[in-house]
Amino acid sequence: MNYQFPEGFWWGSAASGPQTEGVFEGDGKAQNIWDFWYEEKPEKFFNRVGPDKTSQFYKKYQEDIQLMKATGHNSFRTSIQWSRLIPDPKTGQVNPKAVEFYNDVINSLLEQGIEPFMNLYHFDMPMVLQEQGGWLNRDVVDQYVFYAKTCFELFGDRVKKWFTHNEPIVPVEGGYLYGWHYPEEVNLKHGVQVAYHEALASAKAIEVYHNMNLTGEIGIVLNLTPSYPRNPENEEDVKAARFVDGLFNRSFLDPAVKGHFPEDIVAWVKEQDLMPETTPEDLAVIAENTIDLLGVNYYQPRRVKAKESPIEISSNGILPEDFYDVYDMPEKKMNPYRGWEIYEKGIYDTLMNLKENYGNIRCYISENGMGVEGEERFVNAEGMIEDDYRIEFVTDHLKWVHQAIQEGSQVQGYHMWTCMDNWSWLNAYKNRYGFIAVDLDNEANRTIKKSGYWFKNLTENNGFN
Ligand code: BG6
Repeated sequence: MNYQFPEGFWWGSAASGPQTEGVFEGDGKAQNIWDFWYEEKPEKFFNRVGPDKTSQFYKKYQEDIQLMKATGHNSFRTSIQWSRLIPDPKTGQVNPKAVEFYNDVINSLLEQGIEPFMNLYHFDMPMVLQEQGGWLNRDVVDQYVFYAKTCFELFGDRVKKWFTHNEPIVPVEGGYLYGWHYPEEVNLKHGVQVAYHEALASAKAIEVYHNMNLTGEIGIVLNLTPSYPRNPENEEDVKAARFVDGLFNRSFLDPAVKGHFPEDIVAWVKEQDLMPETTPEDLAVIAENTIDLLGVNYYQPRRVKAKESPIEISSNGILPEDFYDVYDMPEKKMNPYRGWEIYEKGIYDTLMNLKENYGNIRCYISENGMGVEGEERFVNAEGMIEDDYRIEFVTDHLKWVHQAIQEGSQVQGYHMWTCMDNWSWLNAYKNRYGFIAVDLDNEANRTIKKSGYWFKNLTENNGFN
């Protein structure tokens, strides 16, 4: 069968500033929570490798953009680092070196015919603002809006695709729900407040952007995890899956696309005495400033069943898991390295849900990819990693994206995570995701993997057989 994609389909990959750029002496960047946390607790990071050991995009972006071209990109997403652009939020002064760097990146991408997709926030709260409470503090919302406006003013003449956050649920889950990330809290009430402030910050940034009358569009990138009940005939399982979908997907998707929070989740939050502080003015801003374009990160589904034992609240307070059980489906396909289920049809179900329940919002796949440990094993005699598993992974997902398009989905592109192997939060370099290998022990030298050449071929043909 021939899988052809619509003309103008966006092909490329995604990355983020904090995971690729690195910090170099004299570049004027201030600390974000990752830089700080690594200094405090290096043991938290796989092999004690921290955010200072990146693929050095700050220095190597020219070469990297050439490599994007060589691997058939017509678009690329990264993020601006808030702590690089505005090192001291008290003065609000921009760092001229940061402006020069991002200008150069944007201009070089455009010169190569690669559309820059720019994200404003990828888990990287500036440390000075975290000291004031980070997303828990309402004032940080205004600081963020100032930062967003600064970005639009500086780069909005050339960047036509903006995103307010990448995966806003991650700072909630990581920082406030499970204690995985800084500030390592386990406090759902705080998590709800953080989610609310992120949604408000996003809507306010969208309002500013639209008022500036720039010719471009703005959206948000969400990681959507379709939730499947153990038994679709069992009402309690279905209810549990709906609850999980509400908490992890609709709590972010509904305000972004529909302008309000999902009623069932608001009712549950009230019942559990977790309501955030809100104002009617805020809610009006959220209602009036919805997104133009949605980025969908899809990696894995959630399998859910009704709670089998009575609800017990731990001493740490309520956790979502107190209200449902994870269903460990037998014989599911797994990525053994990352421990994530591979369920290709989930990408289609997600797109069809957007079509049917979210006004067929225009969207693109903003991340999808396969993290693999120990890829050196697959190096061939010419020094190239033969990552056929990645080619298969992407192909299998693209078939379902294609199917969704046939059925009317307005999905307009596919970005793989990621271009160069990059540093990734707690996992550091444990799982490699790139089209291009990075040799950390050898000046971060780059080598295109088999999947990179394959992708070039795919994008030249705008599809595959
Ligand atoms: C995505 C994030 O969810 O997952 C990225 O947006 C991250 O920032 C990627 O790097 C892979 O994560 P991990 O933990 O498997 O390395």
